[in-house]
Amino acid sequence: MEKIHSLTGMMDLIGNKAQKEDIANKIFYTEEVLKNIFENYSISEIRTPALENSSLFKRSVGDNSDIVNKELYSFLDKNEKSITLRPEATASVIRSVIEKKIDNETHKFWYLGPMWRYERPQKGRYRQFSQAGIEILGYPEGLAELEMISIVCAINKALGIEKPLLKINHLGNKESKQNYCESLKNFLEPLSLELDKKDLERLNKNPLRILDSKNPETQEILKDGPKIDAYLSDEAINILNLVKNTFSDDCNIEIDHNLVRGLDYYTGFVFEAVSEDLGAQNAYLGGGRYDELSKQLGGKDLPAIGMAIGIERLAALAKTYRKNKTSLSFIIISSKIEPKAYKIAHKLRSLNNSINIDVQLSEGSLKSKLRRANKDNASYALIIGEDEIKSESIIVKSLLDENSEQLVMDFKDLENFIKKIK
Ligand code: HAM
Repeated sequence: MEKIHSLTGMMDLIGNKAQKEDIANKIFYTEEVLKNIFENYSISEIRTPALENSSLFKRSVGDNSDIVNKELYSFLDKNEKSITLRPEATASVIRSVIEKKIDNETHKFWYLGPMWRYERPQKGRYRQFSQAGIEILGYPEGLAELEMISIVCAINKALGIEKPLLKINHLGNKESKQNYCESLKNFLEPLSLELDKKDLERLNKNPLRILDSKNPETQEILKDGPKIDAYLSDEAINILNLVKNTFSDDCNIEIDHNLVRGLDYYTGFVFEAVSEDLGAQNAYLGGGRYDELSKQLGGKDLPAIGMAIGIERLAALAKTYRKNKTSLSFIIISSKIEPKAYKIAHKLRSLNNSINIDVQLSEGSLKSKLRRANKDNASYALIIGEDEIKSESIIVKSLLDENSEQLVMDFKDLENFIKKIK
């Protein structure tokens, strides 16, 4: 029989409380930390479906992007309609606010969930991955940019990210972007024989994307080409300096005029956080302003800025861990008293939310159950047998100190003991 296995580039995350450095646990913890930060910044959650009409991504992420050109997971449904597993969530958020007719209001949204891109899998690059994202809608360039980078700094701090580098750039307004693209085209067209196929395609479809070329020969040619900063307005330069000055104590910020981002909807300030510890796929979050997207999708004029965080990459960098709650292992040593003993465990669990009580469900010797309690890093074993049920007491054994005596507590004392554990 053919073996069943997961799809290429898609992984299972299997939690294991005792192994906090395990990537699955780091991912779960990272998600919790992010949700807390989003709540602290007074941002509301938004959930949109994983499946959307294919046209949504073509009209937003754009025909010029790699995502739409080669990476969409698109299918025909039973009605022969083309649907796509979302490769990102910004387009869905804007679709949703337009559809709900709330595209004339201000919003701050966060989301967290799986995204799909049919990429060539490698370290840090998956076909199903998770993003947490924020979209701040309805605010023009200014404070919203500061809010966004403030959140990036808070994330780096909370997860102890070492040596993060935040690259920022400005793509200009419609007019300056057009002027710059034209001069870039004029400069590169006579040199087109020296460009590879991919860069030639970029030059024709979206010249700005050529700045992002991975080809060293193209990068060499670009050194003598026109630079975007010469085309930027004073306001654009000011916002870059404002961001840099405001957060320079918290974060290493670099203005990088070659940063263009791979999605077509960006219009102004853009940014990407990278870490050399990640290897080739070094960006763990990215985003920027996309003031035209709402109108492009048939909505109102809605200025917007957002970012998305690659959870797997951020978790790989995280240096802080969840503080484990004090754990107690509840050991029943006679099958005859299981229902009565279980009822006691049920009551104990309701007394203190800051501890874990793990009722060992399997049969086995006391020795093997104590071994399991130690393996799970339990601080105490609560041991109950027929004698204890009769005398309404329980044995409490500290697992923190091998030499400590075990105690016998009656149920009332046990309840007080449980309530006091921190
Ligand atoms: P993005 O740069 O395409 O932006 O993705 C954001 C982050 O998702 C990346 O920096 C990376 O950490 C992670 N990521 C992307 N692709 C993969 C993959 N195949 N495997 C693992 N991680 C990946 C966006 O998606 C925009 N929607 C961000 C945004 C929100 N802009 C405005 N609002």
